[in-house]
Amino acid sequence: LAFAPEQAALNRGFPPGEFDRLAASEAGHFWFQARNSLLLWALSKFAPDMRRFLEIGCGTGFVLSAVERSFPDAEVTGCEIYSEGLAQASRRLTRARLYQMDATALPFRDEFDVIGMFDVLEHIEDDALVLRAVRDAMTAKGLLILTVPQHPWLWSYVDEYSCHVRRYTAPGMRALLGMSGFKVLGMTSFVSLLLPLMALSRARKGQDPERFDPSDEFRINPTLNRILGLTMDVERWIIKAGVALPIGGSLLVYACRDDAPARH
Ligand SMILES: C[S@@+](CC[C@H](N)C(=O)[O-])C[C@H]1O[C@@H](n2cnc3c(N)ncnc32)[C@H](O)[C@@H]1O
Repeated sequence: LAFAPEQAALNRGFPPGEFDRLAASEAGHFWFQARNSLLLWALSKFAPDMRRFLEIGCGTGFVLSAVERSFPDAEVTGCEIYSEGLAQASRRLTRARLYQMDATALPFRDEFDVIGMFDVLEHIEDDALVLRAVRDAMTAKGLLILTVPQHPWLWSYVDEYSCHVRRYTAPGMRALLGMSGFKVLGMTSFVSLLLPLMALSRARKGQDPERFDPSDEFRINPTLNRILGLTMDVERWIIKAGVALPIGGSLLVYACRDDAPARH
């Protein structure tokens, strides 16, 4: 079902030509693998009994396909503004419902007990508008789980190419969620151990559009890919042990509605 095809034509939130490259690279790339492991851990810790899951901005469905496999009893829905992304997602997914829609105009009310937005909010000008729509789409006991790029000082041409509007700070995200009707349950940075490497790479290549090649991000020597993946594994163990990492390339946030009954 396409709810907002005209919005896809107007949207500047993502380069739709990137979906094929993403679909071909995600499964073998340390960053996508590590983020999936972190998200599945967070979902099984904070929403082990989830019944109805919505991912907003599901892209090629890489996260959603992992959710589909790990939560066989949950009803799984993905929405995305670009049909190019949904075409890739529909090849990966076996039972998820997929909708073409704009995150700023979600047609849902009190429907989902878990909503995920993974690296989507930074693509959208009016992020507060989206969060208010997300709150309306959630049940009173629902959980929102978000990942966003962190630290404005890391801003580079990579963000511009990726159609980011901003990188977030932890206090800024807390304030944004508060004014959008959410209560933050927890947050941690990730891509923390690799932050020096990331900062160096962004400083070297990410400031000069002439030297920037978007395929570089996906062309990683297999041994290096493995080492970076192991580093992310170590970091995940630290997070699982209950440590909220203060700095890192990305931020993971869990929140509930501010009128939610107390959680146990
Ligand atoms: C960086 S990708 C992340 C994709 C996927 N969530 C993942 O983690 O692999 C950002 C996604 O947000 C989608 N997006 C951007 N603006 C949107 C909007 N207004 N409504 C819905 N999706 C949007 C893009 O098309 C893209 O698929």
